[in-house]
Amino acid sequence: MKFAAVKEFDNFYEPVIKEPFDMKGKWRMKHFKNEHPIVLELGCGKGEYSVGLAKHFPEKNFIGVDIKGARMFIGAEQALKEDMKNVAFLRTRIDFIADFFEEDEIDEIWLTFSDPQPKKVNKRLSAPPFIERYKKILKKGGIVHMKTDSDLLFEYTEEQIAEQNYECLELTWDLYGELPENIDPVTRDIFHIKTHYEKLFTSRGSVIKYCKFKIH
Ligand SMILES: C[S@@+](CC[C@H](N)C(=O)[O-])C[C@H]1O[C@@H](n2cnc3c(N)ncnc32)[C@H](O)[C@@H]1O
Repeated sequence: MKFAAVKEFDNFYEPVIKEPFDMKGKWRMKHFKNEHPIVLELGCGKGEYSVGLAKHFPEKNFIGVDIKGARMFIGAEQALKEDMKNVAFLRTRIDFIADFFEEDEIDEIWLTFSDPQPKKVNKRLSAPPFIERYKKILKKGGIVHMKTDSDLLFEYTEEQIAEQNYECLELTWDLYGELPENIDPVTRDIFHIKTHYEKLFTSRGSVIKYCKFKIH
């Protein structure tokens, strides 16, 4: 039901396999109709983080990406009801992300509560095959953010940052425990926007980890 409905939304895109996708390189011009930076949330689930960030940063554009259209219906519907023009959703496997954006089209990427993939290392969203895809679309100096409850995924990502010589800008194993009292209000607000899984995990006492790094 939700999956059928979301396809009609004008803030929801579902590329047809093997057909050219006419938004590639034109998201600013054709969808957002501005020249603002574009931020992707990969594995956005219900999209509340993309919507939350979009409210805080009206001068940036946000695109939530996931394979589950029925989940994204929640965020896409909220954005439409609230007449938010700076957030959109794209249904695809993240594995094909470089097919839908042009080189340098993206300014930042958020990986929020990504599946830790305990057995399939190369399916982790911070593994080299995914980072290579991000490099194709992310501007030089663009930032990758990760928020997770998973020790396994976070430890792996920390190792990748060191092994692959990514530039680590921030890294904490206890985001909310370590937020300084005098942190600026914008940063505090960003960290307090919580995804669906984040609310679930924090209510169970999980400690949230965060890092921010440059891949090229
Ligand atoms: C654990 S959920 C987190 C959802 C959301 N970020 C949150 O924090 O509430 C992981 C999400 O990533 C999506 N996902 C995982 N691997 C994917 C892939 N390769 N391509 C597209 N979506 C993927 C799943 O469909 C799921 O919605």
